[in-house]
Amino acid sequence: MRQTLVIANWKLNGGIGLLKEMAEHFHHVDTQEQVQVQVVICPPAVYLKTADVLFEPIGVHLGGQNCSEHLSGAFTGEISAEMLADVGCKFVLVGHSERRALFADNNAVIAEKVQQAQSSNLIPVLCVGETLAEREANAVESVIQEQLEAALQQADFERLVIAYEPVWAIGTGVTASPEQAQEVHKIIRDWVASKAPQEAQKLQILYGGSVKADNAQTLFSQPDIDGGLIGGASLDTEQFDAICKAAKDI
Ligand code: PGA
Repeated sequence: MRQTLVIANWKLNGGIGLLKEMAEHFHHVDTQEQVQVQVVICPPAVYLKTADVLFEPIGVHLGGQNCSEHLSGAFTGEISAEMLADVGCKFVLVGHSERRALFADNNAVIAEKVQQAQSSNLIPVLCVGETLAEREANAVESVIQEQLEAALQQADFERLVIAYEPVWAIGTGVTASPEQAQEVHKIIRDWVASKAPQEAQKLQILYGGSVKADNAQTLFSQPDIDGGLIGGASLDTEQFDAICKAAKDI
């Protein structure tokens, strides 16, 4: 009932060469696979226009990795949600744990970014997740609910994706077990259902954190996991393709 979604988050990696390699590859993906799995690439912003030219004709969507909380003005170096939409993006990542930890994206800023994204007709992919210390303190549920509550007060749940990314699993090679991930995905869906019961069943909730070709299928086949947000493995065309195929086979 929910289409599987696989999003590549290239972070500060990749370039024109990788874009061309991926586009060449996905050009050959059969339409059946494209119908079953929606693929989104989030390259660094400077490559978005080139990416749009390469990917638009083959049905692969684009996303920004971040957007400003502001619409426009004297904010040197920033990129607005509207600008991302202008160059062909459909999605934008908001609240990634690296943005929270390294660029001071707090809950208030994240809520504003969700607003900017939605009013520019982008689908925000809100990232939430606990640290290892929070998990060890049995605070997973409260941390996740607090992040959701803060970011989504004004949100339109019909135009939203949520990604559960436990901080301890990002880029570490340690993946949440399918059971651990499913437990949190259920917490997220239940929370959304308490705000917007109808939308909760349609909402795509992705898992992110050391997803690889060999663990993707068991993760994606959990009842509340609707695909993945892929960092490191999305930089390797073969790995990323294998992950997209795993998403198709569930
Ligand atoms: P990873 O990153 O797949 O390299 O763990 C995921 C992410 O940060 O979105």
